[in-house]
Amino acid sequence: MPEETSAPLPRLAEYPIDHEFIERWSPRALTGQDIPQEDLMALFEAARWAPSNGNSQPWRFLYARRTQPAWPLFRDLLDEGNHRWADKASALIVVVSAQKNEKTGKPLETASYDTGAAWMSLALQGHLKGLAVHGMAGFDHEKARRDLRVPDGHRVEAMAAVGYPDSPDVLPEDLRKRERPKERHRLDQFVFQGGWPEHC
Ligand SMILES: Cc1cc2nc3c(=O)[nH]c(=O)nc-3n(C[C@H](O)[C@H](O)[C@H](O)COP(=O)(O)O)c2cc1C
Repeated sequence: MPEETSAPLPRLAEYPIDHEFIERWSPRALTGQDIPQEDLMALFEAARWAPSNGNSQPWRFLYARRTQPAWPLFRDLLDEGNHRWADKASALIVVVSAQKNEKTGKPLETASYDTGAAWMSLALQGHLKGLAVHGMAGFDHEKARRDLRVPDGHRVEAMAAVGYPDSPDVLPEDLRKRERPKERHRLDQFVFQGGWPEHC
């Protein structure tokens, strides 16, 4: 796959699926404009309906829009690599999972798994609304826990930048070259009929 071009490469499905799955991707070129509150809330609404173990709904989303007082708190969590482009996000989200059942105190073994499902609903809804939604692990998890008052028994999972897509020209050259949808493994590299393959 050529690295020196930002020309979009075709993503090809091996089997017919809804095109939205293939067309969702993680852009970095963002306009820096504010997002209306109700448009952002629609993303959390989509996440709300994700399935979870025992309907435990362990996902928690902390957020700041760029026009809100908490914005610098969220922005300052990002590592340098993400600062370079995510400063132009319209909203930053910290995704947290509750690792224990609120009522019984018992561990929620699939809390991260369930929260991942909710994050994907959020990302796909954003894509369907024409927004860029870009997941991030490159941030200070401990600072997020401290500065955003995340209680014990909760895991800081990831962050996400939500914004309006812009031209790749707004990006520094190195990021501009990488600004395109990525390929994926072939199905036969991760789907195994009947058990784990013997020679893998
Ligand atoms: C949990 C998670 C963490 C990620 N962390 C970062 C990050 O810190 N910085 C970044 O630029 N992209 C990050 N990404 C974006 C991935 O690199 C991207 O989703 C992956 O390369 C697939 O590309 P696509 O989403 O465009 O299909 C992250 C994605 C996820 C889901």
